[in-house]
Amino acid sequence: MYTPPRPNPLWAVAGLVRTAFGGEGNLLSLLPAAAYRMTVGPLGWSRRMILIVNAPELLRGILTDPSDIYPKNDLMVGALAPLVGESMFVSSGKIWRQQRRMIDPAFSHMRLSKAFVQMTAAVDDYVTKLDDLAGRGEAFSLDLAMSHLTADIICRTVFSTSLETATAHEVFNDFTIFERSVAHVELKRLIFDLPWSDIPHQETVLAACERIRHHLGQLVDKHIGANGSTYNDIAAAIVTARDPETGTAFTRKELIDQLGVFFLAGHETTASALTWAFFVLAMQPGLVVRMRAEIGRICGDGPVEFEHIKRLVTTRNVFRETLRLYPPITFIPRVAAETTTIGEYKVKKGAMIMIAPWTIHRHAAYWTNPHAFDPDRFSHEREHELVVGTYLPFGWGQRACVGASFATTESTLILARLIRHYDFSVDSPERVRPVARLTTRPAEQIMCRVHRVPRGSQRAEA
Ligand code: HEM
Repeated sequence: MYTPPRPNPLWAVAGLVRTAFGGEGNLLSLLPAAAYRMTVGPLGWSRRMILIVNAPELLRGILTDPSDIYPKNDLMVGALAPLVGESMFVSSGKIWRQQRRMIDPAFSHMRLSKAFVQMTAAVDDYVTKLDDLAGRGEAFSLDLAMSHLTADIICRTVFSTSLETATAHEVFNDFTIFERSVAHVELKRLIFDLPWSDIPHQETVLAACERIRHHLGQLVDKHIGANGSTYNDIAAAIVTARDPETGTAFTRKELIDQLGVFFLAGHETTASALTWAFFVLAMQPGLVVRMRAEIGRICGDGPVEFEHIKRLVTTRNVFRETLRLYPPITFIPRVAAETTTIGEYKVKKGAMIMIAPWTIHRHAAYWTNPHAFDPDRFSHEREHELVVGTYLPFGWGQRACVGASFATTESTLILARLIRHYDFSVDSPERVRPVARLTTRPAEQIMCRVHRVPRGSQRAEA
């Protein structure tokens, strides 16, 4: 069975040194070998306690605690604040509860079926580009291609605008500046700072966030100024949302915060997952044959429709297994707002609680062959092997990802559409190595090529 690339864990202090001075902004290098075996325990040395929690019963307790003693982590909140203000991704307590009540309906099943039309249009345009690349046999960056495609999908589904417009392009470029800086901000502070310290940001990053927020503001204004039927997108749903308990609407600033987070949480994560999925598939031709057979069986020669998505079981399980081995959100951090106890550990106010899908998804006590890529572990026949609370790429409990169905539908569509017609091959696969920055990413861009599958061979396999 294929085992895709993973980091080589060191002992705790060496991991800290490598992380603090390695200059790569890689949180994965912080994890010692013991982090993959422990149920709960402190992580090496740092000014504040960092407690890794792998045990499913403990992490479920933390992520579903109703008393607000484990709010979003101050370091993450501070790092993301210039872009997303007080949006639902970083807020906690009463404010978060109100925001979530108002935003949930924008991601309903009915709205997803409408968004599917815009997702399909974005993939149609992307396929034209891929045909061109295939024709020229040119190598291209898989990471960048997936970031463009998923950012285009977010622009179309949230704002009814395509990434080809100059504004969307500028937002994308500024976002890249922000993304590169964030992990660096977080890392050294994680090791050296006391809890709730101020987080300074570079001028260039603040300026990039300011420009993004300015553009978001213009898109928000268009939606506010439009009459009810002009837009039928996610932004329109948020602009017209009213709190069911108080009847209040979001202010302009709050709308910019919320829509900024959809751009942030909605395209980086999915791009990360798809980059890894296409990399693994390039290394697994047998799996590609199986997927093509299934796609042919379910979609025939016609388009991939919304109702096909849940029936493309192998494709979906490839996506799930990719999220297990390369969870885009590598760590789900919280902070202890008061002194408490977790398992046998006394945890002081200000301690960082690190729930790491990365270690939990690779923990030998919960998974057979934990580092092997085995999509069939999610098959109906083997469902009983899954341990509740050990698979959490979308988080867990009340704060689980609001866009989980959106991302699963989008990714299944993209995988099915592209795998059906193209073979992917990777230049220098031996150089591929995961790192955790804002999301789980390859350390260097993965350069790949595509080849169009001859017409008819897909049906023959089917
Ligand atoms: C493969 C893709 C995605 C992954 C792996 C992912 C993962 C996650 C995770 C782990 C959380 C919980 C974080 C925590 O508890 O601290 C989360 C929250 C969130 N995600 Fe996603 N996400 C994805 C796609 C999306 C998309 C497409 C959107 C929106 C368009 C989105 C919007 C959000 C928002 C707004 C939250 C905050 C929810 C809350 O705190 O109530 N995500 N996501």
